[in-house]
Amino acid sequence: MFDLELKNKVAIITGGSDGLGRATAKRFASEGAKVVICARREEHLMQAAEDLRKETNGSVLGMKADVCKAEDCTKLIDQTVEEFGGIDILINNAGKSAASGLEALSDEAWQEDLDLKLMGAIRMCRGAVPHMRKMGGGSIVNATTGAGKAPGSLALPTSVSRAAGNNLTKSLANELAKDKIRVNAVCIGLIKSAQWERRSEKGSLEEFYNELGNKVPLGRVGEAEEYADLVAFLCSARGAYITGTAINLDGGLCPVI
Ligand SMILES: NC(=O)c1ccc[n+]([C@@H]2O[C@H](COP(=O)([O-])OP(=O)(O)OC[C@H]3O[C@@H](n4cnc5c(N)ncnc54)[C@H](OP(=O)(O)O)[C@@H]3O)[C@@H](O)[C@H]2O)c1
Repeated sequence: MFDLELKNKVAIITGGSDGLGRATAKRFASEGAKVVICARREEHLMQAAEDLRKETNGSVLGMKADVCKAEDCTKLIDQTVEEFGGIDILINNAGKSAASGLEALSDEAWQEDLDLKLMGAIRMCRGAVPHMRKMGGGSIVNATTGAGKAPGSLALPTSVSRAAGNNLTKSLANELAKDKIRVNAVCIGLIKSAQWERRSEKGSLEEFYNELGNKVPLGRVGEAEEYADLVAFLCSARGAYITGTAINLDGGLCPVI
């Protein structure tokens, strides 16, 4: 049997109320992990947590937190430890798309993107790592994108924030290997999620995904469950020898390995 050995592991998934984070929360809860999801919209978050509990018969708690706020990150870590006695797994998934050109972007727009995608992950890692050490090890996965490795045109500021996320991943993998804390990144391409549903509001979602899929070598966009499977594998006992990697999950979209 291919047991991931995630039962009773305590996992925090930021941005777990929608899209890829929600699918990941479902996967972890189905495997018997104790899952904490955070997001900013409280009502939506609590509904998602309740739905996930029903869907999986598992342990899923919603805790309102904005990863752009240091005090929210501290509270999220403290509440998780209080509730479940420690932290084994952290998925830095919260984020949103931001793709533009040099002259269109103000200092504030740059700052905002870095604060969400880079500083959000840094704050959560800084808070979670001491607890992972106490547990004798842990696993961190950072959501980034292929543009962090190979930026296209008009992909700022995300491509820069995500390159920093990949670098953070390798830096922390190097620093924390001695503590048996593994750190990996998933470089996401185009995957079905709530953000695409919002953008396609005017037309048919299926047509929208088909059109997006035409840009992908494998000819389709990804499923949120495919992301959840990879993240779960990376955090599992089956991924125990994997650290410091940034894996493309994009149907071949990224031009570099
Ligand atoms: N899907 C793709 O094709 C794709 C492509 C490249 C990269 N990604 C990355 O993958 C990750 C997941 O994206 P997704 O497509 O699943 O997006 P999504 O469907 O829009 O879900 C985003 C989640 O993050 C939460 N969130 C946003 N800002 C937050 C903040 N400051 N603090 C805490 N939670 C926050 C949202 O809830 P609230 O709004 O209530 O806070 C929601 O739960 C993101 O980092 C995204 O940039 C996705």
